[in-house]
Amino acid sequence: MTPQFFQQYEENTAAVIAELKTGLLASDAQIAPKFFYDLLGSRLFAAITALPEYYPPRVEAEIFVNYSKEIAQALGTHATLIDLGAGNCEKVARLFPILQPAQYVAVDISVDFLRDALEHLGRQYPDTAMLGVGADFSTQLDLPADVSDKRRTFFYLGSSIGNFSAAEAVPLLERLRRNMGAEDGLLIGMDLVKPIATLEAAYDDALGVTAAFNRNVLLHINRILGSDFRLEDWRHIAQFNTQASRIEMHLEALREVRVTWPGGERHFAAHERMHTENSYKYTPESARALLQQAGLVVQQLWTDPMGYFALIYATPV
Ligand SMILES: C[S@@+](CC[C@H](N)C(=O)[O-])C[C@H]1O[C@@H](n2cnc3c(N)ncnc32)[C@H](O)[C@@H]1O
Repeated sequence: MTPQFFQQYEENTAAVIAELKTGLLASDAQIAPKFFYDLLGSRLFAAITALPEYYPPRVEAEIFVNYSKEIAQALGTHATLIDLGAGNCEKVARLFPILQPAQYVAVDISVDFLRDALEHLGRQYPDTAMLGVGADFSTQLDLPADVSDKRRTFFYLGSSIGNFSAAEAVPLLERLRRNMGAEDGLLIGMDLVKPIATLEAAYDDALGVTAAFNRNVLLHINRILGSDFRLEDWRHIAQFNTQASRIEMHLEALREVRVTWPGGERHFAAHERMHTENSYKYTPESARALLQQAGLVVQQLWTDPMGYFALIYATPV
């Protein structure tokens, strides 16, 4: 079966351009992390997951192995699996043999990368019904009518929810919950607080892959906006903000920089920063509280022996 594909997100729209300009022109300039993910950005993220410093995929995989029976029991078989921010789709695909999905739905903003990943997966699992949705779920989540509403299990893996402050995460999780029935559930990854040195190394690896991932956002923006950001003017910064319990990634101007685009410009002083990512780190208690605020109740919380990462199964209240 060839996977069906629904493209709901286009990056060259007036709304996307306006969002980018508003962020760049703010006194504290910012770029939302979703703009990391053009084709190259998605490939760089895949490389990050292989870095020794970037612990989340390894630890999350360890939890999947250690609790495979319990996880399979909680999720059940023959469900509709909806993978949010699916990336290369590999994590959920690894569960196909035990979960035997009735349908697999991959949702991602990185449309070209998702199409490729899904075509590849379709060849590996020709008997599994698959559907791709190119969408930005930070603003809305309108699943196509072809997505079955029978026993839906949503996956939001990695530490993706951490990109959103509580004020942003709660509406996002509520959107998700509105797409769930009483029998449905959400398996979500939430990264936990740990020593600062471990956290900062994970977002500033020795090889410089995360720096490349962060700086690549400028190339992506140049394509969308027609701007003239130059890579050599910017350096990668990753710091833990203890008070806010989050890693922050920034791009810092190495000198005075003037960036222009059709109809606009922004002047940056030397050492001025653009904020490109937050990655919130939770405690088991703050993770439960966040889900609770969105009307989701934690049924199971699995963690690793070091307490680095939590995999949580939650259902609608
Ligand atoms: C940190 S990666 C995680 C990928 C994969 N789920 C994993 O755990 O390894 C985040 C993924 O979410 C996608 N993404 C980020 N923001 C998004 C948004 N607003 N809407 C849809 N997808 C988004 C990215 O393209 C990327 O594939």
